[in-house]
Amino acid sequence: MNRTGDFKVRRVTVAVFLAIVIGIIVMLEIVGCSPGSQSGQDNRDTSSVSIAALFKAEHLWTAPDTTSIPQGEEGKMIAYGRTLVIHTSKYFGPNGSLAKITNGMNCQNCHLDAGTRPYGNNLAVVSTIYPKISPRSGNMITIADKVNECLSRSMNGAPIDTAGKEMQAYVAYIKWLGRNVKKGETLAGTAGIKAPDFISRAADPDKGKLVYDQFCARCHGADGQGQLAADVLKDPAKQQGGAATAEDLYYYPPLWGSHSFNGVATLYRLSKFAGFVQNNMPYPANHSTRVLTEEQAWDVAAYVNSRERPIKDFSKDYAADISKKPYDFPFPPYADNFTEAQHKFGPYTDMASAKKKAH
Ligand code: HEC
Ligand code: HEC
Repeated sequence: MNRTGDFKVRRVTVAVFLAIVIGIIVMLEIVGCSPGSQSGQDNRDTSSVSIAALFKAEHLWTAPDTTSIPQGEEGKMIAYGRTLVIHTSKYFGPNGSLAKITNGMNCQNCHLDAGTRPYGNNLAVVSTIYPKISPRSGNMITIADKVNECLSRSMNGAPIDTAGKEMQAYVAYIKWLGRNVKKGETLAGTAGIKAPDFISRAADPDKGKLVYDQFCARCHGADGQGQLAADVLKDPAKQQGGAATAEDLYYYPPLWGSHSFNGVATLYRLSKFAGFVQNNMPYPANHSTRVLTEEQAWDVAAYVNSRERPIKDFSKDYAADISKKPYDFPFPPYADNFTEAQHKFGPYTDMASAKKKAH
């Protein structure tokens, strides 16, 4: 028996076998079936990304077109409600034609594009979720009650008559906005402000000041007091993006001080401020063109919400059941043992998961 020849044959067999195995591995990589590319992490693999994108495509809400506002009395109320959302200060601001009851902001300053912008704190689902029990008051509240909460808290003002024409107009507009939304339907970018991902440390007002000076001060002012429409409209250099007209008090609304939202407004909660800002600021940033990182969003929220602002009585909020108090509501008492400082600035990871477990 020729032992050398026998060995050669075996070597050739092993080599062919290895070549086939390597060939199969290479082919799997090319067609994108290896576990690595299936995870969707590898953005360089364009073929699998485009397929993944199809599946991930968000079901975004689009507001009804204003040309579809009906004719007649009902349509007039809807259109009036829309005007009251856009130019609130003209009617209810410090020089308001109907009542002088608010800080001069417009609803639209916080509910962008008349409450229609995805991720812009829009009012898409409101008509499908009210009336509902408010965890804040423990009572059943209507859309009108909620609008009055924004007038009293976010606009640091006073409620208006729920039977009056203006409130009826607000409600008519909000119902019209949500007329194509089904109850319980999940639509991306609607249903309130989502918190940015948590960071592992407490939000830092000092770091936030640096973010503010770099990204916010040029519009909202170094002192956070905003800029009046009358000033900005006569100086094109100051017009850097915004929707205000000569009918409005502010071109850039204030972020703190006596004309800003008060301490019981929802934006005074760090997660809400950070979430709104990350998806919408610096104007006209949006959900897909975010400018700020998670850290910057939390830190700038900590800075702005550490400045002075009107503080109203908060003692009745969540008093009906303090376990319903949001983790970042910055006033004690709390149902847990985390400190007031941690509720105000985080870190929130443990707090939020403890809360989830409790419910
Ligand atoms: C280019 C100008 C511009 C810049 C820069 C900018 N904003 Fe704004 N901001 C606006 C305008 C305009 C509005 C009101 C939007 C409307 O009415 O349509 C607004 C609204 C807001 C609101 C809600 C209304 C209020 O006053 O409470 C917050 C909060 C806010 N901005 C925070 C920030 C923060 C924080 C930054 C920096 C990260 C920032 N903005 C940068 C123009 C700007
Ligand atoms: C300073 C900012 C600000 C202003 C100004 C403001 N709001 Fe709000 N509004 C908010 C925030 C923040 C929320 C709560 C969003 C969340 O829960 O995530 C809210 C919630 C609401 C809701 C309930 C939304 C829901 O899904 O439950 C309605 C309705 C509403 N606002 C209407 C108005 C109207 C009408 C005006 C003007 C009269 C107004 N808001 C002015 C910040 C503001």
